[in-house]
Amino acid sequence: MKGIVLAGGSGTRLGPLTRATSKQLLPVYDKPMVYHPLTLLMLAGIREILIISTPRDVPPLQELLGDGSWLGMQISYATQSNPNGIAEALIIGAPFVGNDSIGLVLGDNLFYGAGLGTQMKSAIASTQGAVLFGHRVNDPQRYGIAELGGDGRLLNIEEKPTQPKSNLAVTGLYFYSNDALDIARSLKPSARGELEITDVNRSYARQGRAQIVQLGRGMTWLDMGTPDALLEATHFVATLQRRQGQYVACPEEVAWRMGFIDLQQLSALAHALGNSQYGSYLTSLVNEHGLA
Ligand code: G1P
Repeated sequence: MKGIVLAGGSGTRLGPLTRATSKQLLPVYDKPMVYHPLTLLMLAGIREILIISTPRDVPPLQELLGDGSWLGMQISYATQSNPNGIAEALIIGAPFVGNDSIGLVLGDNLFYGAGLGTQMKSAIASTQGAVLFGHRVNDPQRYGIAELGGDGRLLNIEEKPTQPKSNLAVTGLYFYSNDALDIARSLKPSARGELEITDVNRSYARQGRAQIVQLGRGMTWLDMGTPDALLEATHFVATLQRRQGQYVACPEEVAWRMGFIDLQQLSALAHALGNSQYGSYLTSLVNEHGLA
């Protein structure tokens, strides 16, 4: 499976913060936002990832993440010139994906909770179509909203409905079979002028090939696309990290825990970060696990 992080868009809802910088490079407490979607795909076991962003924002993202070899991964980049919608990521990413299946995540989504990696891996193993993740929200008008049949089967999804049929939002994490690329290519722009990911998902649902995994109340899903949402995510991460002394969305740690790099490599990354709080955290991990 190949991974795509869609880190595009003009971030207008975060202006003027995004006038000169990418939304996905803004800090969420102590890390750039893009660390969240990146580590999510890593936890699903994906090691080849394409980051899609605007022509302006690819260079700084590249400066941050490089070719991924420091994480035992391959990270490459592609540009989305205009905000033509999430589904366009599947068209732009097609040469990178080749004949593989796809894990797509939106650059401003944060997921946190025990067992998420296992849940993603079993979703990947069981699908011949699309696996979506649903989470309850208080403001369903802002999201793609799922309509389920009595048996829990996904019947339909409505994008930002004025009369939502449920509170079950479709989150920005999607696993697809390879034919998502063809489905995306066949889409027509919606009324808001975008190639809608919801239309890809509906196409799978119509064919009876979409399943939705409902993330329970023990799981946290936040988006970070407005000033308040960004502040809430910042507090969330800071609260957990300060209380537990364990980092959320730390790519070096995830790479090591997933076996992409060994303790020696983690130690070198820790040294390179010097005496920052973040570097000290990595050093403490190394020390705890046996390398001085
Ligand atoms: C997008 C999708 C929507 C989904 C949401 C999750 O909305 O279109 O279906 O629920 O991401 O973050 P947008 O960010 O484009 O408003």
